[in-house]
Amino acid sequence: MLRFFAALVLALGLSVPAIAQEGAAAPRAETGGAQTLDDILRRQAQQKVDDEFRRSNTGDPAAAAPITAPLGTRGGQSDSDLWRALRYDTADVTTQTRGPAARVLIQDGGMWWLKFREGPLLIYGAALLGGTLLLLALFYLIRGRIRIKGEKTGRTITRFSGVERFGHWLLASSFLILGLTGLISLFGRKVLIPAFGHEAFATLATGTKWIHNNISWAFMIALVIIFVFWVVHNLPDRTDLNWLAKGGGIFGKGHPPAKKFNAGQKLIFWSVIILGGSISASGLSLLFPFEFNMFGATFAKLNAIGAPGWVGLDPLAYPLTPQEEMQYAQLWHAILSLILTAIIFAHIYIGSIGMEGAFDAMGSGDVEEQWAREHHSLWVDDLRASEISQGKEA
Ligand code: HEM
Repeated sequence: MLRFFAALVLALGLSVPAIAQEGAAAPRAETGGAQTLDDILRRQAQQKVDDEFRRSNTGDPAAAAPITAPLGTRGGQSDSDLWRALRYDTADVTTQTRGPAARVLIQDGGMWWLKFREGPLLIYGAALLGGTLLLLALFYLIRGRIRIKGEKTGRTITRFSGVERFGHWLLASSFLILGLTGLISLFGRKVLIPAFGHEAFATLATGTKWIHNNISWAFMIALVIIFVFWVVHNLPDRTDLNWLAKGGGIFGKGHPPAKKFNAGQKLIFWSVIILGGSISASGLSLLFPFEFNMFGATFAKLNAIGAPGWVGLDPLAYPLTPQEEMQYAQLWHAILSLILTAIIFAHIYIGSIGMEGAFDAMGSGDVEEQWAREHHSLWVDDLRASEISQGKEA
């Protein structure tokens, strides 16, 4: 008899994992509408879980007890029904605070955002900036400084007016300050707090945030100035294809002909305008929290034309809670800023130590004629032609 019981216990014990395994694949109906093991495992593995069964399980007012009965005021909802409604933002909440986000008491997407911000964003961001600096150092070692090849003439040509240089340096100085203060905000918790402690970082972070918020206006104004002055010279044309095909002449002998801006510079210009513009827009939505809901609206438009499907994605989340709007704005702002910073590293390199004679264009505004002939031959030809025609007219 004893042996029989021992065998029974063993058999049951062994079968439990098998039952649990089957439970993993069991349809939700078999769990009486509750979560399955599969749901839990998927959630733990950060995979997508179809939570519609919970989302819609927020009580049935038709089944409500009359208001005179015990618990009747709940309108047919149990405690868990109410919490589910709060979590999925379907509860009818009224608050005294009138802010747009005050009604959302539980915000389901916060952990995803926090984990991404603390992990991949920092790791890939650091790799992008560090990798770019490394590549530029390598490029300098291999290629060296791009020198003026021909005999210098001693004559100069005016390349940028005072206003153009003012716009450029306003853009450059504000961008550098924004970049530095932005990186302090992004990496502070992981890098600076362990190094300098909470007290010191709290002071630094407060100052950094104030500077970042206020300098942003200078960047936006400068963006408009350079756009107005340079957009005409940055429209793509046929010379760009030739310039790109020859790799800008970086490794070859001569430089392909170029107008005022070559194709490489046009790419920099449009990166600054498009990325800088989008960084500014998302920055404004961070500066005035919950006022501009641009991400939900954009996601809805992208879903309507089926854009996520083109790259094998599910439709994008919509509608978004006000907090989710801010999370997307923060991530977008940070990712684009990191990309633009990497591009600007390359720009600063080529505009300073990377190329002889380039800095003068933005320094004094005047460049050596031979430099201009080598790098922007069509621009020099145009200048000469208009001088001649003006001379004829005079
Ligand atoms: C302090 C570092 C910087 C230096 C030394 C520098 C240098 C230069 C120089 C020499 C030029 C003229 C090139 C030519 O004559 O063809 C130029 C143009 C330009 N810079 Fe900068 N720059 C700096 C920072 C920035 C920043 C931070 C931005 C934008 C956020 C920027 C955006 C531009 C743009 C859009 C142009 C016109 C297109 C081009 O030449 O690539 N610059 N810069």
